[in-house]
Amino acid sequence: MEMPSVLKQKLDVLSTGLKQNDIKQSARQLSFRYRNEIKRGQTLIGGKNDSVAYAVSRMPATFGALSFVLEQAFALPDFAPETMVDVGAGTGSAVWAASCFFDLQSVTCLERSPDMRAVGEKLTESAQNFFSAPPVWRDFDLIRDNIPRADLVTASYVLNELNEKDRLNALLKLWNATQNVLVLVEPAMPENFRHIKEYRKTLIRNGAFITAPCPHQNDCLNEWCHFGCRVARSKLHRIAKGGEAPFEDEKFCYLIATRRQYDTVAPRVLRRPVIETGKVTLSLCAPEGITERTFSKKDGTAYKTARKAKWGDVFIPTA
Ligand SMILES: C[S@@+](CC[C@H](N)C(=O)[O-])C[C@H]1O[C@@H](n2cnc3c(N)ncnc32)[C@H](O)[C@@H]1O
Ligand SMILES: [Zn+2]
Repeated sequence: MEMPSVLKQKLDVLSTGLKQNDIKQSARQLSFRYRNEIKRGQTLIGGKNDSVAYAVSRMPATFGALSFVLEQAFALPDFAPETMVDVGAGTGSAVWAASCFFDLQSVTCLERSPDMRAVGEKLTESAQNFFSAPPVWRDFDLIRDNIPRADLVTASYVLNELNEKDRLNALLKLWNATQNVLVLVEPAMPENFRHIKEYRKTLIRNGAFITAPCPHQNDCLNEWCHFGCRVARSKLHRIAKGGEAPFEDEKFCYLIATRRQYDTVAPRVLRRPVIETGKVTLSLCAPEGITERTFSKKDGTAYKTARKAKWGDVFIPTA
């Protein structure tokens, strides 16, 4: 899903007056730090320029990942959250994405960095037509502070910044604050996927039901359970990231944990479908395990549905 046009405009305004080269340099340094210098528990984003660079260079992708994941939460029967808390909100991607799906009456963004908070607040302020209730931004440290309870709790691209001990404490805090649905998103890296597998087990031990991506209460059996979305690049985005490609692919791992048990959760498409003449093969994850299923024209509706299925979708053969 593309960012709302009001957000795109606000990002343009935010970077007005800053030199294109400064944004480009900050975005490059930030990306280098995230790839090479991730020191658990330490701040990687320092100062106003970094925060603007983060918003310009990373928000399209984190918004894309979050809207993909929140669409899976939106599909849960009767899930209509009124309150949301986003932890480690950064510049606010999650609240923009969530507000595309849900009519939220109270949205709280919790963030430790004053510069990220300032940028996030600037983006959400005076967007009253977009948000049912204006998001409230608060100074917050996930290690030190308690999280207020909400129907929907999100933490995206955050837990991987904490050290091991803090990560597990933070996970329990996030779950304790969750009244209905907890959404975790992490960059697709093998280490983060290992963590997601641990979070899955810990959450289940603490009474959670896992509805996505692997829709069951067992371990995730997928060797490399990750998903992706394609994000259009604006002119500003291309300047910040360099290169001319009109899009980029964002890969991520995620988890949706719920307080309520859903009776029927459809299997999930784990990889890009293999489409050949007259047939399509899907790798599907269901409570019974992972299966490869091939559908051909003689399967009628199931074949037609399989032809339309995309990596990460739930698959209901009769839909
Ligand atoms: C990579 S950014 C992700 C921002 C946003 N959630 C997104 O998806 O775009 C990580 C954010 O987590 C914040 N953060 C890291 N450790 C934190 C902590 N202990 N308490 C609160 N925020 C924290 C950082 O300041 C940063 O804004
Ligand atoms: Zn999985």
